Amino acid sequence: MKKTTLIVVMGLAGFMANPSTASAEVRSLRGDLDITEDSRPATAVKPIAERGGFDRSYKLQPPMIPHSIEKDQITLKTNTCMRCHSEENYEKEEAPKVGESHFLSRDGKTMEKMSSRRYFCNQCHAPQSDAPELVENSFQGAK
Ligand code: HEC
Ligand code: HEC
Repeated sequence: MKKTTLIVVMGLAGFMANPSTASAEVRSLRGDLDITEDSRPATAVKPIAERGGFDRSYKLQPPMIPHSIEKDQITLKTNTCMRCHSEENYEKEEAPKVGESHFLSRDGKTMEKMSSRRYFCNQCHAPQSDAPELVENSFQGAK
């Protein structure tokens, strides 16, 4: 027990003694800012609005979001995506209903309510922007 504590303390001390080299080698998304400084706000990217939606690159690809989601909120209390995409609202809002797969339980059974595994929409669906590629990508979609 004591030995483990000692090892942890030694490890921490080693890390703290040399924080500058650690941050010089590993650059986080915060950039080179000190941990005590506020991070810089992300540059706003203009989302592409695509009428009729984006083509999918392969079967069962989560379709990309063809509209802005800047005003949408997905929190413990609210999911504004469902104001338009839920079974109750989609016709009125003229939006596509969440996919059939969103009603499947872990065991593949169809449920009446949407699966909680699909609650965080932007885990799978992403808006698109005309930004340069961060890394070169030669992916070709299969039709
Ligand atoms: C105000 C209503 C509204 C809200 C809120 C909304 N959407 Fe949409 N969404 C639409 C409409 C309408 C379309 C169809 C657009 C078209 O095809 O031209 C659409 C299309 C989509 C599609 C493409 C479906 C496909 O088959 O191509 C996805 C994915 C999607 N929305 C996800 C989301 C997510 C995730 C959120 C929340 C972050 C959200 N939407 C919030 C109205 C809405
Ligand atoms: C775990 C990944 C995942 C999550 C989370 C998820 N989706 Fe999907 N979504 C998919 C996949 C995969 C498809 C394509 C298969 C299908 O239609 O079920 C899809 C399809 C869709 C479609 C198109 C349906 C159609 O008939 O063309 C809409 C709209 C959509 N999702 C909205 C949402 C919304 C809104 C949420 C959040 C409430 C959400 N999705 C959460 C993976 C996900």
